[in-house]
Amino acid sequence: MRVLVTGGGGFIGSHTVDALLAAGDEVSVLDDFSSGQRANLAPHAKLRIIAGDIRDPAAVQQAMTGITHVMHLAAQVFVPASIAEPVHSASINVTGFLNVLDAARRVQVKRFVYASSAAVYGIPERLPVDEASLVMPLSPYGLEKAINDRYGALFKDLYGISTLGLRYFNVYGPRQDPRSAYSGVISKFADCARANQPVTVFGDGLQTRDFIYVGDVACANVAALRGGGRTVS
Ligand SMILES: NC(=O)c1ccc[n+]([C@@H]2O[C@H](COP(=O)([O-])OP(=O)(O)OC[C@H]3O[C@@H](n4cnc5c(N)ncnc54)[C@H](O)[C@@H]3O)[C@@H](O)[C@H]2O)c1
Repeated sequence: MRVLVTGGGGFIGSHTVDALLAAGDEVSVLDDFSSGQRANLAPHAKLRIIAGDIRDPAAVQQAMTGITHVMHLAAQVFVPASIAEPVHSASINVTGFLNVLDAARRVQVKRFVYASSAAVYGIPERLPVDEASLVMPLSPYGLEKAINDRYGALFKDLYGISTLGLRYFNVYGPRQDPRSAYSGVISKFADCARANQPVTVFGDGLQTRDFIYVGDVACANVAALRGGGRTVS
């Protein structure tokens, strides 16, 4: 595959790039490095890095040249930021998403896989949550991901492009930034443990969340790029 990974300099993106390169695929990364890091991407003969914004159609079109598969991960990823600045968040997570999806359609990629989110569900009415669960987002971020899912399904029906959205739950693992105010509990606890500091548990400690290791997400991304499946909506 010749894969464009948007957001490839980020946490999930860089692990996905590693998995693709290890499998012998060619990778192009499009990232504005607003939250991702160049240091997450080791130099490799089959890796091309393009610094650019997914909101810029020319940058997206240039990055799409020669591409056979797209893994779209670039996003404004912070839920509180989406509540504070919903228009800015939608400009990246809806308009930016659409830029990448439409450019992928125009060059007729074989597969377009993108990061949706468990945030589309809001507070689930039953557990475990699955694809048939009610979509009822509680934040602009969740709504933006739900809109991505609808666009993915619509583009499949309208244009025949093969799309697949993966609704990740809470991802943890190396390269997650524990200093971020919005970082996941596992990276914060691990950071405290390494520094021999106490960890803070909020609430009564009986609350549960669903976690997945970033290496497993990278494997799922690569499998989704290669395999069958359908967009859920
Ligand atoms: N980490 C999780 O638990 C989780 C859960 C569900 C969904 N997701 C989704 O997975 C994807 C990857 O998230 P992550 O945790 O790796 O976050 P991340 O912040 O590490 O990665 C996002 C990447 O997108 C880049 N980016 C942001 N805006 C951009 C723009 N306008 N143009 C180009 N690049 C831009 C950032 O620089 C960064 O490299 C996102 O779409 C996120 O919404 C993550």
